[in-house]
Amino acid sequence: MIGIIGAMQIEVEALKARMTDIKTENISGIEFVSGKLCGKDAVVAQCGIGKVFAALCAQTMILRYNTDILINTGVAGSLSTSLSIGDIAVSTACVQHDMDTSPLGDPVGLLSGINVIELPADAELCDKICESAEGLGINTLRGIIASGDCFVSSSEKKKYIVDNFGAIACEMEGGAIAHVCYVNGVRYAVIRSISDSADGSAHMDYGEFIGLAAERSTNVVTALLDRL
Ligand code: ADE
Repeated sequence: MIGIIGAMQIEVEALKARMTDIKTENISGIEFVSGKLCGKDAVVAQCGIGKVFAALCAQTMILRYNTDILINTGVAGSLSTSLSIGDIAVSTACVQHDMDTSPLGDPVGLLSGINVIELPADAELCDKICESAEGLGINTLRGIIASGDCFVSSSEKKKYIVDNFGAIACEMEGGAIAHVCYVNGVRYAVIRSISDSADGSAHMDYGEFIGLAAERSTNVVTALLDRL
């Protein structure tokens, strides 16, 4: 079973609309739509914004739907000069840029307990995502995706994340889904299309481009499912 998680309605609605044989279930306030998507057994959910909602959604998918692959789809802010509006960022790993126990002597971003900073994504899955995106003619970059419970919109914050983590894109859920997958031994990947420049600059404006970016990420998900 393949689990697909997006934070906002715009990030999952087209996927839900394509599903057949659907069953719907509400758990902890999240609607889980299961059935067939592109001929594969899948469950799709809109988790809500931020790491806690994303984590509870991922854990529920694993326990309740027995998902062995989790895909996080949606939009992201660009942290790389190689990623413009509508381009696709694919995770090599995720980090949580707002995790910080450095006053206790830890490196910034260390996830205490599991003692890692980077949560590796499934390389084979990511290869297929890159093939899918490139097959659609979309510029694609693979790298670290940084998650945190804040919308990044200043050059200072952007620089902090790039300097500390070498990340290529920022968003608010992937690192939590990755964390849940890490502790459960489940394969995961994050697919994000760029909606903004993450520094508040007007030429790459979130409100203007979120629709295009969400559609691009959705298209890559369906192209990926055809390859699985
Ligand atoms: N999702 C899309 N753009 C983002 C940004 N700049 N910061 C955090 N999450 C995002």
